[in-house]
Parts: sequence; structure tokens; C-alpha cells
Amino acid sequence: MTLKVLIASDHGGVNLKSVIVRQLKADGINFIDLGPKNADNSVDYPDYAAKLANLMTQSNTKGILICGSGIGMSIAVNRYDWIRGALVHDETTARLSREHNDANVIIFGERLVGELIALSCVSLFLKTPFLEGRHRKRIEKLGKS
Ligand code: RB5
Repeated sequence: MTLKVLIASDHGGVNLKSVIVRQLKADGINFIDLGPKNADNSVDYPDYAAKLANLMTQSNTKGILICGSGIGMSIAVNRYDWIRGALVHDETTARLSREHNDANVIIFGERLVGELIALSCVSLFLKTPFLEGRHRKRIEKLGKS
């Protein structure tokens, strides 16, 4: 089944979102941009995290969330049992979020991470497999699906 990527931000993350969307398009990745369209209006990150989380119940989906610091989106999206959201800052944390934590949502702070690093993190997040083994029982202890 083809992977579907969901992406959303608040006004503080909309510029990095458009950079990532451009790359997803160029790479031919199946994605849905859940908004917002621009930074003209201030919006609330819990609303966009909820929008994305509620669509993450579909199989074979991964999510990308961006706000100013990444912290608000991270707190908001991890309230949903089926989400393992990882706030990452570099290629190492992006890779480990998949290998050790089987993260299904990657989160960025637009004001803290450079565009090229974010693009490289997205690429690692989408292609790196979960390592299973000892990491499986740990994610099971999180009580999330
Ligand atoms: C919006 O100004 C900012 O507070 C938000 O994007 C985020 O950083 C919150 O955690």
C-alpha cells in the first residue's frame, strides 16, 4: 500500500511547510497539505495537530507538523494514543526517531531548524525502518497503538 504523508503547521511553521511540500511534490510522494495556506492569520497549533492526528488513523500514514518552536505541536499531537511524535533538530534525531521509537509523526520548529536540515530529516524519516528487537517492547509499554 502506498505511503500517504499528512502535513500541517500553524502560522509559525507555514514557510517551512511550503519548502517541505515543494520537496514532497518533486519526489512524487503522495501527500495531503492540511493547511494553513499562509501566515496571514494567526491560528492555533492544537487545531492543526488534531486535524492531522485524526487522519493518522488511516493505515500507512506518516505525519509532518511544524510550528515556531515545534514544542506546541509536539505536546498537542502526542495527546493522541496512536501517535508517536518526535520533535527533531538534526539528521541523527530524525533517524533515531524511526529506528528506536517507530515515530509516525516528525515535528519541526521553523524558527530553530534550517531548511536544508529539515528536508534531509524528512527524507530520513520517510525511508528509515523501525529496528524492532528490544525497541518493540519499549514502544508497547507506551500503551499506544
Ligand atoms: C506561534 O507564535 C508560536 O507560539 C507557535 O508556533 C509555537 O512555537 C508554539 O509552541
